[in-house]
Amino acid sequence: MKHFLDLSLIPKSDLHHILSEAKRRKAKQSKEGKVVVSEPSNGKYKLLLMVFEKPSTRTRLSFDLAMRQLGGETIVMNANDMHLGKGEESVQDTAKVISGFSDIVMFRTFEHQTLIDLSKLLTVPLINGLTNSSHPCQLLSDVMTFEEQKGSIKGAKVAWVGDGNNVTNSAIEAAVQFDFELNICVPKNYLPSKKVLDWAEKQGGKINLFHDAKKGVAEADCIMSDKWVSMGDQVDIKKKKSDLKHFQVNDELMSLAKPDSIYLHVLPAAREEEVTSSVIDGKQSLVWQQAENRLHGQKAIIDWCLSD
Ligand code: CP
Ligand code: NVA
Repeated sequence: MKHFLDLSLIPKSDLHHILSEAKRRKAKQSKEGKVVVSEPSNGKYKLLLMVFEKPSTRTRLSFDLAMRQLGGETIVMNANDMHLGKGEESVQDTAKVISGFSDIVMFRTFEHQTLIDLSKLLTVPLINGLTNSSHPCQLLSDVMTFEEQKGSIKGAKVAWVGDGNNVTNSAIEAAVQFDFELNICVPKNYLPSKKVLDWAEKQGGKINLFHDAKKGVAEADCIMSDKWVSMGDQVDIKKKKSDLKHFQVNDELMSLAKPDSIYLHVLPAAREEEVTSSVIDGKQSLVWQQAENRLHGQKAIIDWCLSD
């Protein structure tokens, strides 16, 4: 059974296959309407169950539409509406029921361990739709967007600017799996996961840490950012924003990267905090294409999970 839990757990060749499938499916997408099923897929007649413990716009929309374009259906549940987590039903019993009703599951949860526990109990594939530790589906659309604009990401220099968070962890894993250099520009107390950094080092990944964003973005082909405060962050928000104030992506910072560099953002964005409107709405920004690419990425991920 193929779960999509983290980029580090998936063979490189499979990730490259998923990426090229995402591009191929995008090129073949019907112009007639959004729900035209135009390509054979492993998702036909299958049910994707999505469970959300946190809000979502892009992940929910893209998985829902992806499943329809693959010829399947979806059911979306808010974790608050379920018995799980309230002491009313165990994760073991819930997993049995979910496995009986669905062909594949996508889960957005707080604790990464909950995802891992569920993956061991389900008898159907499980996709990580974001946890406090990672967001692998996001990075697939980010790499895809980079390559659409600039060709192969192999050997390119990408700068991550802002908080060292769940998406940064997946960016590190993506850098190793897709062979690009990643400059992580974060304040001293906002580092990404040590476990992920250690893993990347063992794999020979080119991951460089900077506490001065201006130095970290020099000669970058791409600057990426995310909200300074993530969903469920248990922090002093005012302090965190103040600590991150020199890590805003603005015109000055963009001008230090390569002249043809691109700007990507996970979205949703807090304008004038981690990024200025001049950058996110500017010529180098590909954030809307990046968000739409979630659809094509999800289709390829679902198809891979359901393959033999
Ligand atoms: N980027 C992303 O995952 O967005 P949502 O939280 O809207 O799903
Ligand atoms: N780091 C953000 C990503 C949102 C898609 C969060 O976890 O809230």
